[in-house]
Amino acid sequence: MDLLADIEQVRAEFDRRLEAVKVRTADQNADVETVEQLSIAFLGRKGRLAALFAQLGAIPTEERPEAGRQLNQVKEYIQTAIKAAEGEVRPEKPEEESLLDLTLPGDPIPLGTIHPVTRIEKQIKDIFLRLGFSVLYGPEVETEFYNFEALNFKQDHPARDMQDTFYISEDLLLRTHTSNNQIHAMQHMQPPLRIIMPGRVYRNEAISARAYCTFHQIEGLAVDRNISMAELKGTLQYLARELYGPDTRTRFRPSYFPFTEPSAEMDIYWGLETETDYRVTKGTGWLEILGCGMVHPNVLRAVDVDPLEWTGYAFGMGLERIAMLMWGIGDIRYFYEGDLRFLRQF
Ligand code: DAH
Repeated sequence: MDLLADIEQVRAEFDRRLEAVKVRTADQNADVETVEQLSIAFLGRKGRLAALFAQLGAIPTEERPEAGRQLNQVKEYIQTAIKAAEGEVRPEKPEEESLLDLTLPGDPIPLGTIHPVTRIEKQIKDIFLRLGFSVLYGPEVETEFYNFEALNFKQDHPARDMQDTFYISEDLLLRTHTSNNQIHAMQHMQPPLRIIMPGRVYRNEAISARAYCTFHQIEGLAVDRNISMAELKGTLQYLARELYGPDTRTRFRPSYFPFTEPSAEMDIYWGLETETDYRVTKGTGWLEILGCGMVHPNVLRAVDVDPLEWTGYAFGMGLERIAMLMWGIGDIRYFYEGDLRFLRQF
C-alpha cells in the first residue's frame, strides 16, 4: 500500500471531477455534480481525504511525517480550489431569505397636504366655534332673490351687472358672495342665532395676480335682541388676534354695503418696515381684511324678521386674501393651479 501514490491519485481525480463540474454548469446541464457535492465527496467526514488520513496510522512511523505533510497540502489545495469554484460557478442568486427583510423600513407613501384655503377655513371655523357660533353651508347656484334682492341690492345696482356675475339663465346665477346664506339661514332658523357660512363664490372678473374667477369667503351673521356694534367689534377683534397674534391692532373704517347699515371695513395693522409692507398696504401700514356692519332692516324684513324686535350684525371675508397675507403668497392663481411645488409647502 503506497499512501503517497494514493494521495496523488485523489488529487488527480479531484482535478478531473472539478473540471467536469465547471463545464457542465456552464452548459446549464441540470443533473450535474455540484461544487457542494464535490466538497462533501473529498472534504466531508466520510470523504476521500478522511479515508486517506485514516490510513496514516497504518504506515511505518518514519514515513508518517512526509505523508502527513503531503496530505495536508492536498487538503489545502482542494479547499482552495473548491472556494474558488464556488465563486466562479454558483449563479449570482441572492439567498432566499434576503428577498424579504422585515427589519427594513417600508417604502414611503407620499401623503397629500392640506390646501392653504382649507387650512384657513378650518382655523376660522374653530375660532368661531369657540365663541358659540355654528357652521352652515348653502348653494353655489343661486337665484337673484338670494344673491341680490333680499340683500337690499336695488334693481339697477352695478353688482348685478353681467360684468361681475356669471349668469346661468335669466334668474339663475353663480353666487358672487356667501351673503346669500344669510337669507337661507334666517328663513330656516329663528333668532337668536349666531352662525358662520363658508363657501366658494364666483365673479366674472379679469384674472390677475389679485383676482380670480372663483374664491372662498366666510360669512358671519348674528341676530339677537339688543345686538350692538360693540359686540361686532369685539368679536372681530378677537378673530384678528386669534388669527394674527395677541398684539394685532385693528381699526374700523366706514364703508358701504347694501345689506348693512352702518357698514364698515376692518383693517389690521400690518406694519411699514419693508418695501413689501409699503406696497401691500399702499403706504398706510393698514390692510383691509373684511367687510361688516349692522344688518339692514330691509334684509330682516325680506325674511319676515321684525327689525324693531331683532337686530343683527354680519361680516364677510375672503379666505385667499387672508391666506396670502398669512403666508406671503404673491399671486392668487397659485391656489388653483394644483402645482405640487406650491401645495407641498403647506
Ligand atoms: N358680501 C361682501 C363681498 O362679497 C362681503 C361682506 C361685507 C359681507 C359686509 C357681509 C358684510 O356680511 O356685512 O364683498
